[in-house]
Amino acid sequence: MERALAFPSSQGTPEAFPSTHGVEDCGSMSILLNPYRDPELWLAAFQRELPDVTVELWPDVTDPTQIEFVVATRQDVDDLARYPKLRAILSMGAGVEQYLDPKMPDVPVVRLADPAMSDEMAAYVVHWVVHFQKRLDAYLADQADQIWREHGYTTMDEYPVGLLGFGTIGRRIARALSDLGFPINAWTRTGTDEDWVTSYAGLGELNGFLTASSAVVNVLPDSPTTRGLLNSGRFDHFRPGGRLINLGRGATTVEADLLDALDDGRVGAAVLDVADPEPMAADNQLWSHPNVRITPHISGFTLVRSATQLIAANIRRILAGDEPFPLLDRSRGY
Ligand code: GLV
Repeated sequence: MERALAFPSSQGTPEAFPSTHGVEDCGSMSILLNPYRDPELWLAAFQRELPDVTVELWPDVTDPTQIEFVVATRQDVDDLARYPKLRAILSMGAGVEQYLDPKMPDVPVVRLADPAMSDEMAAYVVHWVVHFQKRLDAYLADQADQIWREHGYTTMDEYPVGLLGFGTIGRRIARALSDLGFPINAWTRTGTDEDWVTSYAGLGELNGFLTASSAVVNVLPDSPTTRGLLNSGRFDHFRPGGRLINLGRGATTVEADLLDALDDGRVGAAVLDVADPEPMAADNQLWSHPNVRITPHISGFTLVRSATQLIAANIRRILAGDEPFPLLDRSRGY
């Protein structure tokens, strides 16, 4: 989707981040911190990491005109309009969909790409992929009836896993699975030539990707191009009984279509760490579906120590006139 250039046209070049402070005189500006949990812990971590900077905890802002950086999981558009000297927003989460709102201030948004968070998510996915590959649901059911029997065996090299999304997180998950011996399919917008994965590119190859994967791991962000991507027509192309593991964003999946596909067996089971909206509504039938496992968005937390170091390093980069990374590309949607 083409979007009028709401971003400074120089975004992505060092000129977009002129150094107005030497790092030594950054005491004159403030950072506004708005984590979604453990505010005091985050405050202490940022104060340790950036001892010369004033860090304020939202909503207690002493002087809005001094705020140059907002570090937040989510921040209301109207609130952001209160900071005339705002230079950048630094996300405390991997997902940045809220910053695609055209009413957001026209400043760079720095995403959080934390390898430690990707490790956590990789462990979550390995758990569930192994659960399905080894048919653990059947063994758990048998244990309840004290039955000792085998349910057949699929080796890891016979169990291809498809990564729907192959950025920092998708790659880390794929690497963990590949190291164990699972063949990897990777679906991206434009394809990848990495020789350890089978590449599928663009919407034209999405159905083939789904059919080729025993388990589909969805780590897609919520963007105008991904919203509702997994719908009934796509579930038609799952391997019969194929598994879906969604830890990207709930909005990428049409939940009513998923329920139908679970009921008629096009999808064998789903693991949902995300929903739309969150928390999942009490009357959502996914809660009680026998082939659905739900976790409340816990596959990867924002980890205080590593995230603080990464965000603080990006603030220092901006103060020194260098480019922070990775930047949200609003035309791409992530
Ligand atoms: C979690 O979903 C995040 O965006 O970090």
